[in-house]
Amino acid sequence: MTQDNREMQLSASDRLFVLTGAGISAESGLATFRGSDGLWNGYRVEEVATPEGWAENPELVWRFYSMRRRDALAAEPNAAHVALARLEERMGERFYLCTQNVDDLHERAGSRRVHHMHGTLFCSRCVRCQQPFADARFYETAGELPVCERCGSAVRPHIVWFGEIPRDMDGIYRELEQATVLLVVGTSGSVYPAAGLVQVARQRGIATVYVGPERPLNAQAFGEIRLGTAVEVLPGLFGETGAHLNTP
Ligand code: APR
Ligand code: ZN
Repeated sequence: MTQDNREMQLSASDRLFVLTGAGISAESGLATFRGSDGLWNGYRVEEVATPEGWAENPELVWRFYSMRRRDALAAEPNAAHVALARLEERMGERFYLCTQNVDDLHERAGSRRVHHMHGTLFCSRCVRCQQPFADARFYETAGELPVCERCGSAVRPHIVWFGEIPRDMDGIYRELEQATVLLVVGTSGSVYPAAGLVQVARQRGIATVYVGPERPLNAQAFGEIRLGTAVEVLPGLFGETGAHLNTP
């Protein structure tokens, strides 16, 4: 694999939109979905990640997400998560992080503003009144399935399943509208609408960069591909001497 370690220059007027996928957490030991030992191996996607699967067997669905929550809690953020948290510190409002991941490694690395477009493992919600529950009592399901405190209905994982619409697409498009650079890290480009964000960015004529060890399915849409793992590439990508980034 050729690795490209050239720094990219950001100016004080640049606004960076970052989209991350399972690949950024791979070096923290969390399985990606579509790799050879991928998360979907051993599970049928329809069983654990669709509204139909939930209707069929909620216990199985809860078990699947409890397992993933345990794995996420046992993992530590890596240098790529940390690099993005530092960038946010340097760029402030001109930095926006949107992740497809449901783990909390970005937050634990220090990122303050993280949009989880596919939901999170650390929240659940009532299927009827939509009341969200961030309290672990409502997602740690050792015994009985949790029920809503308000209306008594079933409580489901706060995860966006196949066939459902990602959270706050309007907000995502608004942020992308203002960005001057789109950086995409560790996602196979196979799940829409996330995979389509690069086309939106290209139509606007802004810079688009992909970072990952292999070319994603939508590679042809990117202006630039940086081959390498997230930990290899991200920490040096925008340099560490970027004090100028916050000065007008
Ligand atoms: N650094 C960067 N990228 C990596 C690394 C690494 N160390 N290791 C693997 N990758 C890349 C792979 O090359 C692959 O392109 O990460 C990508 C992981 O792809 P997927 O497993 O398809 O994960 P993702 O794209 O995040 O999946 C999208 O699909 O199943 C749904 O909702 C789920 O959010 C998920 C969505
Ligand atoms: Zn309710």
